[in-house]
Amino acid sequence: MEKIAVLMGGLSNEREVSLESGRNVVDGLKSLGIYDVVPVVINAENLDEMPEGVSRVFIALHGGWGENGGVQRALDFRKIPYTGPGAESSRVAMDKIKTKMILEFTNVPTPAWSLASPDTPSSPLSLPVVVKPPADGSSVGISKVSTAQDWQAARDAAFAAQGGQGTVIVEEFIAGREFTVPVLNNQAWSPIEIIAENGWYGFDEKYRSEKTMYPFVSESELTIKGEKIADILRKTALDAYKALGCRGITRVDIRLSPLGRPYVLELNTSPGFTSHSLVPKAGMREGATFGEVCKKILDCATYGIGKK
Ligand SMILES: Nc1ncnc2c1ncn2[C@@H]1O[C@H](COP(=O)(O)OP(=O)(O)O)[C@@H](O)[C@H]1O
Ligand SMILES: [Mg+2]
Repeated sequence: MEKIAVLMGGLSNEREVSLESGRNVVDGLKSLGIYDVVPVVINAENLDEMPEGVSRVFIALHGGWGENGGVQRALDFRKIPYTGPGAESSRVAMDKIKTKMILEFTNVPTPAWSLASPDTPSSPLSLPVVVKPPADGSSVGISKVSTAQDWQAARDAAFAAQGGQGTVIVEEFIAGREFTVPVLNNQAWSPIEIIAENGWYGFDEKYRSEKTMYPFVSESELTIKGEKIADILRKTALDAYKALGCRGITRVDIRLSPLGRPYVLELNTSPGFTSHSLVPKAGMREGATFGEVCKKILDCATYGIGKK
């Protein structure tokens, strides 16, 4: 049987989420009965834990080296096909500053933004804004600033999440609704709405709350201008995916303003596979099992400039 490695763990602050994703993917692929599935827990920024004879890799690492192009480059070097975008697209997607520059340059809508340093005294954009570290995931270090008094704490929280270094993003707060759209090899799957209890999709709402709701977007629902919401979301997600040169699986996070205008928040090139995760949910909508969704993603695995 073909030997498939599932990489999980890693050193980022999303290690625990990744271990859960990885265990689910291992079980899902094993359930198909056609692979020799090897779980590989990553504890350093290298592939030393990976056994010989692996023909393809499912990357279930989130954040850091597992999502920023590091592991992708290591697998390119070994000529082993892996799931998700290549090293360069992964690197850009993990950096929200680079992502926003490319989205703007290619006319994909993204919230207006600016940058702040540790001593920026007040918000460079009019309130409300969202302050976020460019490289973290899982909503860590992200907060909304509604009044001038909230600025300092939000700025400091964003810097604390990245060791006080660099710059952080200050972004126009987009009122309205939130959605996420998985894209696999240039095909957008069913958009999913994210309805968090208090309207904010923070760490607890992502991983702990049982009250966050994830309904599929109805294919007939229209914006107040009469356009199909599902179509707007699929097109926007696909435009963002192409702008960054993605391949394989990627999940695009989008806000939709009350007027029906979409704004891309970010692209997730190694999306979660936990019990709350949305890529498997969207994939299973068409009747596939969890394992079959994993297989579809695995079957798009490539390395380098797109070799199988
Ligand atoms: N500009 C914004 N307007 C409104 N809500 C936002 C904005 N930016 C982030 N958020 C909220 O914060 C969450 C996390 O932000 P996101 O940019 O997707 O970073 P992460 O990598 O942590 O998922 C989003 O899902 C959304 O609920
Ligand atoms: Mg997000």
